[in-house]
Amino acid sequence: MSEVAAHPPHRRVTSFVHQRNRLTEGQAHAWARLWPVYGADVADVLSGALPYDPPAWFGRIAPLVLEIGSGTGESTAAQAAAAPEVDHLAVEVFEPGLAQLLMRVEEAGLTNLRLLRGDAVDLLRERVPSASLAAIRIFFPDPWPKRRHHKRRLVQPEFAALAASRLAPDGTLHLATDWADYAAQMHEVCTAEPLLENVTTDPDGWTPRPPWRPITKFERRARAEGREVRDLLFRRVAKVPTPPD
Ligand SMILES: C[S@@+](CC[C@H](N)C(=O)[O-])C[C@H]1O[C@@H](n2cnc3c(N)ncnc32)[C@H](O)[C@@H]1O
Repeated sequence: MSEVAAHPPHRRVTSFVHQRNRLTEGQAHAWARLWPVYGADVADVLSGALPYDPPAWFGRIAPLVLEIGSGTGESTAAQAAAAPEVDHLAVEVFEPGLAQLLMRVEEAGLTNLRLLRGDAVDLLRERVPSASLAAIRIFFPDPWPKRRHHKRRLVQPEFAALAASRLAPDGTLHLATDWADYAAQMHEVCTAEPLLENVTTDPDGWTPRPPWRPITKFERRARAEGREVRDLLFRRVAKVPTPPD
């Protein structure tokens, strides 16, 4: 085999940077015990080693919510506890966060939450069927505040089109951020996506925080620093409206 591949695989800009984060001793113990039960790797789903099969993973057929970037899982666990009739798939690249979420799953006895480690965009694009999700939730995505890093922001036109295509009719895309310019970008991008319509009746376009989305450390810090938190809720329309003749 030659040392340099003739055509190295194209790697798109990701919304995260790879870091090797060590697990604490407690997290490592939880991981060894609980990951085989509740977790799986996006890479295995992409390679086909593990079929993308939520009914098999949850042992039932139920509406499915996909959360991108569950972080330490404080909000994720609360969402799953608040809606036992709905299945929740948390996708995250940050291992210590996934380990903390595993501990929350065990502590709360949650049966409707599974964890996937890896890039949610790859999963959405390659494996999640069209029109299959009840909701996609992205709470406090990395803001990438420097202009030269804006290309790393998750919510861009291409992503909005991908996310909308994976939502079932009436399925929702729910976003929250404490960065004013990112909130404006999200609003603009989702409004421009023909498969999405804003659910809110608020003339400003924002939606109130639902009671099941707890105030996490991101929101507490934002409030302490005087930043406003914005929720955005868009719904997948059945089909793209055709303009009148
Ligand atoms: C700022 S944190 C917010 C965590 C959590 N949603 C909360 O509100 O506490 C954003 C998280 O998104 C994750 N992330 C970013 N891009 C991702 C992607 N494409 N797939 C999966 N996780 C991603 C990061 O690793 C990070 O943990």
